[in-house]
Amino acid sequence: MSDSKLWLIVPAAGIGQRMRAECPKQYLRIDNRFILDITLSRMLDSGLFAGCMVPLNSEDRWWPSSGASKDDRIQTCNGGAERADSVLSALTALAAQAGADDWVLVHDAARPCVHPADLANLVSTLATHPVGGLLAAPVADTLKKAKPNALPEVIGTVDRSQLWRAMTPQMFRYAKLVEALRRALNKGQSVTDESSAMEFSGNMPVLVEGRSDNIKITVPADLDLAGFILSRF
Ligand code: C5P
Repeated sequence: MSDSKLWLIVPAAGIGQRMRAECPKQYLRIDNRFILDITLSRMLDSGLFAGCMVPLNSEDRWWPSSGASKDDRIQTCNGGAERADSVLSALTALAAQAGADDWVLVHDAARPCVHPADLANLVSTLATHPVGGLLAAPVADTLKKAKPNALPEVIGTVDRSQLWRAMTPQMFRYAKLVEALRRALNKGQSVTDESSAMEFSGNMPVLVEGRSDNIKITVPADLDLAGFILSRF
C-alpha cells in the first residue's frame, strides 16, 4: 500500500423508509447514542484514516445534535438521490485532499456492528490488490425463488454454493471508484453498492470474509439485535 492514504466515506443521506420511524434510521438510538455516532466512532477509532466525509440529506435536522458534528476529523457534504449519488458527491468533496491511488473505504451509516478485527483484516488483505474489495459473508440459508404473489409461491431452490452477502466497508482506489460510479450512473445502471459499479466497469473486487453479525439496520427488529451484538464486544 506504500504511501497510499485511507479515506472514509459514510453515506448517511438516506431517509430509511423501511424503518417507518419518525427520523432516518441513522438517527435512531442504541443505548441513547445515534447509530451514526456509533458507526463513525467504531470506524475512526481504528486510527486508519486520513480523513472522513459524510454526505447528508439536505433536509437533515438531526446532524447538529450528533456527537459526530463536534468531531473535527469529520467533514460533511450534500448527498444525492440514491446511495451512489451520495458516495460520488463525497468523493468529489474529497478531490482536493485524496490522491488517485489512495484507498477509499465506504461504510453504511446503518452498520454500527462492524468489528475492528474485520476492518483491519480487510485493509491488510487488500493492501497490494489492484482493484480492492469488500467484506462479505457466505450465504447460510437455503434460497428460494418465488413468484411475487400476495402469498409468494416457490418456483425453485437456488444453488447457494457460490453466493455471498455483500456488506461494507467496501474498499477501492479513489480515481477508479470515481470513474466507475460516473460510468454506471451515466449508463443508468442500478448500483446498490460500490462493488456493483466496479464490476460494471470490468474491475472484479475481492470478497473478504467477515462476521455475519455486521448487520445493516433495515427494519425495526434490527435495532434490538444490533444493541445485543454491540453489548458483546
Ligand atoms: O437504504 P439503504 O439501507 O440501502 O442505505 C444504505 C446507506 O446509504 C445508508 O447509510 C443510507 O443513509 C445511505 N444513503 C445515502 N443516500 C441516499 C440513499 C442512501 O447516503 N440517497
